[in-house]
Amino acid sequence: MKEIKKITCIGAGYVGGPTMSVIAQKNPDVEVTVVDLNHARIAAWNDEDLDKLPVYEPGLDAVVGEARGRNLFFSTEVDRAIDEADMIFISVNTPTKTYGKGKGQAADLKFIELCARQIAAVAKDDKIVVEKSTLPVRTAEALKNILENTGNGVNFHILSNPEFLAEGTAVTDLHNPDRVLIGGEDAEAIEALVNVYAAWVPRERILTTNLWSSELSKLVANAFLAQRVSSINAISELCEVTGANVDEVARAIGQDSRIGGKFLKASVGFGGSCFQKDILNLVYIARTYNLYEVADYWEQVIIMNDHQKTRFAEKIIQTMYNTVNGKHIAFLGWAFKKDTNDTRESAAIYVADHLLDEEAQVVVYDPKVSAEQIYRDLDYLGTRSPEDNRRLLKVVDNAYEALDGAHAAAVLTEWDEFKGYDWAKIKEGMKRPSFVFDGRKLLDRKELNRLGFAYYAIGE
Ligand code: NAD
Ligand code: UGA
Repeated sequence: MKEIKKITCIGAGYVGGPTMSVIAQKNPDVEVTVVDLNHARIAAWNDEDLDKLPVYEPGLDAVVGEARGRNLFFSTEVDRAIDEADMIFISVNTPTKTYGKGKGQAADLKFIELCARQIAAVAKDDKIVVEKSTLPVRTAEALKNILENTGNGVNFHILSNPEFLAEGTAVTDLHNPDRVLIGGEDAEAIEALVNVYAAWVPRERILTTNLWSSELSKLVANAFLAQRVSSINAISELCEVTGANVDEVARAIGQDSRIGGKFLKASVGFGGSCFQKDILNLVYIARTYNLYEVADYWEQVIIMNDHQKTRFAEKIIQTMYNTVNGKHIAFLGWAFKKDTNDTRESAAIYVADHLLDEEAQVVVYDPKVSAEQIYRDLDYLGTRSPEDNRRLLKVVDNAYEALDGAHAAAVLTEWDEFKGYDWAKIKEGMKRPSFVFDGRKLLDRKELNRLGFAYYAIGE
């Protein structure tokens, strides 16, 4: 079997960057090069100041610090890295299509196809090509077709190796994965990739399957996880009208080992770049095979999630006497979850958009998200002009400033620091009645009530 000495990864994003950093850390004898077309991103990965890495993940600075320059490299020289590699990971973005057939549902595979064509054009010796991106089931077939029909007569072995890390815990997830999944047809190619992971992952946690099971399992894992969040969020609404408390219900059902306690935290709605995209993709695939009941079943997870975001915004408006016009609402958090600077599909974007439609004055504080990113997220929706977004929404870099003079605080992300704030001091600076809308069930109801806040939390 061919020994893997050089690995290239195309795509230096949230997955490619951290994953390859850990592979390099744990395989000091393998040279790992991560390439990207985005020069600014590569420059940030190469920044001497490890605080400036383009992806914020706890512990990532130490991993990059250990391996970078030793056997981990970040570069924009895509062709060269392809040419030199024994194994090439494709870890580019696979967003939902925004045009043409499948618009709004199917995965856009144009970046994947570009990579395949580039690999085929450059490769002068046999390569193992690894799908790291999340892809529709049977993409490997298309990939193989492109590689074999446009290549230079060399052999390509395709493997599927989907990534299960979650943002905010990427490094611990990579260091200690529940499982690594490798799908493929060629035993030697599979074994080569198994050996890369076996440098730190116990063999019994490295699962091998056929290509299609591996590709499909990734979509299914995300669908099941998102379904749990939508399920508990559906129950949160029922709790609010019946006097039950959703955390207590979650604990009561989660103690049943068949159900399990994880991923049962009610929230303002799931966000992130993948849950929605991957379920939409699953729905699209099911419809393509005329499996309409299957498609409708999974689509409901998204419908419920959209409802939860709208419901939270509506709750704010309704509680504040049915008008938020001109009212100052402080947003605590913008990221889609804590410990990440990623805002893709964050519930905060949609809740803000809803409140801005009602002419609220929103002031946002997030410990890791920049003002530019927040305006980019809002402008991308195209609901109103960029000028109006900037007139109605301000971004500050201090929570106390965001809350000073506010009619209401809304917790959109579960950052730990929000719990430790001096809420007595905050109360003094806020308008009365002082409302707190907790979309993450983060704060202490008893304490806030004692301080005189009107406190609303999802599912209570
Ligand atoms: P990302 O947008 O952060 O990164 C993708 C990178 O690929 C970008 O920097 C882009 O410039 C680069 N790129 C695109 N086309 C290229 C090309 N032809 N040549 C060189 N570079 C190119 O995306 P991500 O969050 O890292 O996700 C990548 C894939 O992994 C997606 O399929 C996603 O569904 C999947 N995934 C993501 C996560 C996550 O937590 N973000 C977890 C598991 C799986
Ligand atoms: C998710 C999966 O957990 C990863 O396994 C997968 O690799 C990844 O998607 C992907 O394919 O991109 P991620 O989106 O980074 O990871 O983060 P999660 O922790 O899964 O959270 C997703 C969203 O659900 C967040 O908005 C989070 O706040 C929300 N959530 C999660 C809840 O509202 N309640 C919960 O109990 C759990």
